[in-house]
Amino acid sequence: AVQFFAPKILTGYSILLTAGPTREAIDPVRYISNHSSGKMGFAIAKAAADMGANVSLVSGPVNLATPAGVNRIDVTSTKDMLDAVMAEVDNHSIFIGCAAVADYRVAKVADEKIKKSSSDMQLALVRNPDILATVASHTPRPFTIGFAAETQDVERYAKDKLVRKNLDMIAANDVSSSELGFNADSNALKVIWAKGQQDLPATDKHTLAKQLLELIAEQIHILKD
Ligand code: CTP
Ligand code: CA
Repeated sequence: AVQFFAPKILTGYSILLTAGPTREAIDPVRYISNHSSGKMGFAIAKAAADMGANVSLVSGPVNLATPAGVNRIDVTSTKDMLDAVMAEVDNHSIFIGCAAVADYRVAKVADEKIKKSSSDMQLALVRNPDILATVASHTPRPFTIGFAAETQDVERYAKDKLVRKNLDMIAANDVSSSELGFNADSNALKVIWAKGQQDLPATDKHTLAKQLLELIAEQIHILKD
């Protein structure tokens, strides 16, 4: 059945999200990025707005329409995404890091297009800052949810990220299959928090977004009581 009116369980909450890939320039015409479509993050932004939340969405380069009522901030590089997030974080009580952030950037972006030569080429890469971990160690700290994109040992790696990044919750997805996760319309999530976990079986990203937000709302209400 089509549900026209979502229960407004997030009224009074302000949610900050990241979505999509980040893109790191190599030279004026080339970049490093990944296959993230932004669909999961945009579905969460839409569902959160439908549930009554005030939503800000910091998005990398994607081909998606802005959901109604969502405040969208477009960025390209990881550094720009971090700056946009930290400028907004104090205005929000919940942070959800859905972006597939480029883990490395090029050490020195070339001013001019790099010409090929007869020999091989090497790029020096440096680690990017971790946006999610930066938010989780910020004061005041929002209720912080991360994603974990894994191709193996999903639960073990996700639990490790939950603890290592000091998160309240992590939503893990297996990105080894092309039907689910990255750049697909459907996904399945294993959601883990300190005191429990729940599997959200494969479905479309809009249904999954609602289910994830219901779990988040439940945990926030428990913390408040
Ligand atoms: N993340 C982030 N900033 C980064 C890297 C990741 O905010 N520089 C966030 C992602 O948005 C996601 C979570 O961290 O919510 C986990 O991303 P993932 O790529 O699965 O984990 P990493 O910590 O980067 O570890 P690895 O890629 O080595 O598995
Ligand atoms: Ca990563």
